[in-house]
Amino acid sequence: MPNDINSEINRRRTFAIISHPDAGKTTLTEKLLLYGGAINLAGSVKGKATARHAVSDWMEIEKQRGISVTSSVLQFEYDGFCINILDTPGHQDFSEDTYRTLMAADSAVMVIDAAKGVEPQTRKLFKVCVMRHIPIFTFINKMDRDANDTFDLLDDIEKELGIATCPVNWPIGSGKNFKGVYDRTGRAVNLYYDTQKGTKEGETHIIGLDDADALRAEIGDAAYQKLVDEIELLDGASAEFDLDTVRAGNLTPVFFGSALTNFGVEIFLKHFLEMTTTPLARKSDAGIIDPTEHDFSAFVFKIQANMNKAHRDRLAFMRICSGRYDAQMEVKHVQSGKVMRLSQPQTIMADDRKILTEAYAGDIIGVFDPGIFSIGDTIACPKDEFRYEGIPTFAPEHFARVRQLDTMKRKQFVKGVTQIAQEGAIQIFKEIGSGLEEVIVGVVGVLQFDVLKYRLENEYNVEIKLEPLPYEYIRWIQNYNEVDVPRLTGTSDMKKVSDLKDRPLLLFVNEWSIGMTMERNEGLVLSEFGSAE
Ligand code: G4P
Repeated sequence: MPNDINSEINRRRTFAIISHPDAGKTTLTEKLLLYGGAINLAGSVKGKATARHAVSDWMEIEKQRGISVTSSVLQFEYDGFCINILDTPGHQDFSEDTYRTLMAADSAVMVIDAAKGVEPQTRKLFKVCVMRHIPIFTFINKMDRDANDTFDLLDDIEKELGIATCPVNWPIGSGKNFKGVYDRTGRAVNLYYDTQKGTKEGETHIIGLDDADALRAEIGDAAYQKLVDEIELLDGASAEFDLDTVRAGNLTPVFFGSALTNFGVEIFLKHFLEMTTTPLARKSDAGIIDPTEHDFSAFVFKIQANMNKAHRDRLAFMRICSGRYDAQMEVKHVQSGKVMRLSQPQTIMADDRKILTEAYAGDIIGVFDPGIFSIGDTIACPKDEFRYEGIPTFAPEHFARVRQLDTMKRKQFVKGVTQIAQEGAIQIFKEIGSGLEEVIVGVVGVLQFDVLKYRLENEYNVEIKLEPLPYEYIRWIQNYNEVDVPRLTGTSDMKKVSDLKDRPLLLFVNEWSIGMTMERNEGLVLSEFGSAE
């Protein structure tokens, strides 16, 4: 690969930000963009309001805009790096797409609220990062508010998530007594300044730990003594920093700061860019595809259906895995064998869409989908045949029985639910051995139920009734060829269903039932992820 293409690829950093709603993901993203000069003032990034709106408003907004920009990507330049941030929507927008987005990232930044520690949504997204062995960086946010004890916060991450932690810096106090952070490698304190008004760099005031008098004068005797004691404890107790362990996803570097007041954000960004990886190689059925050694290739990780009836088109998001893409080139959709030019390839810079002329491995592009792309599909050069490893199916947590109100419209109903399921917005299941007259729908976020109802009515002219079911857990039977599924015995509330590919699955009301079923059926192997095959 020519040098200029190599250097373009090697300066790319593509990561996702994960957090529980309200931990400060949006605020941190805004501040990061501020450093990239992508926006002038924090506060103007993406449709934050969108995520907060009630369902009906959300539909309205989707309609007005034509296409949703939720779960999209933001690109900006900083210090010679070209940075792609993948947004993972939370709140009601939480869906399987949120998980799939992580398949396109090379690392993840986990934002944690210092007063709350690890919360459920973080835990779920974290599991997907672990499955992919991607590096995870932790930003403990809101230090300007009263925070939990720092050692307790680290303990919480280690116990809840099972990953070792290595603080890169260490907070001095919190809330009204927040004085700044101690940088362990530089052995110096960055004093806290509130720079939320949008000044980019803010004020930086650094005092070395050895300059005890100056430090005491700034932070007070008590805070100074506490810091010295804590550092001693920390140096003795915490895991050694080791970049290979970080990159293997087994150790998370931890940073402290306050996104709202823009403190600790640039320190984080600088360290993060040093530690995170260039675009990672990906597995395909022809072996590992190296980003700089192969010509253009990409895979589709998300399909965004247009909610606007007047525009039935869909947008497919793909992650470029190798080489350089330019808008003139012909590419092959490997699954169909079709050779084509991608239509209106675009990237999203801050809150703007931009038609792009070229892109490199690490970048994410959105293209209009003429109706041929599916999640997990490979796009490559016309000469290539390889396919990237597919994207697993993630376990839905909410289930409902769907009935059509007008039984005369059976055909439309089956077509509608099947198409919407193929796009990956919902998962559908049926009673083992029966057809699709009546289906069970599983979703990751409850908003998807409304999306399904809305789309069936508007696009397929089918009215439905959704009856919530009590199941919360689904497990794929990994070794279904070896077990006699009809004879499996579980708890009385367990339900056997099959998916569109006729693979058997089990639905459970609680985790206890999963344990009981495992106990009663020796040799049964259950999985939280459905394989992509
Ligand atoms: P999210 O994307 O993870 O859901 O969180 P978001 O950034 O929207 O932040 C949630 C709330 O927490 C916001 O307040 C935001 O201003 C606040 N916040 C974020 N970072 C910090 C921080 O470092 N310190 C403090 N004190 N607050 C922080 P809100 O009142 O819900 O929203 P808004 O009215 O400010 O928009």
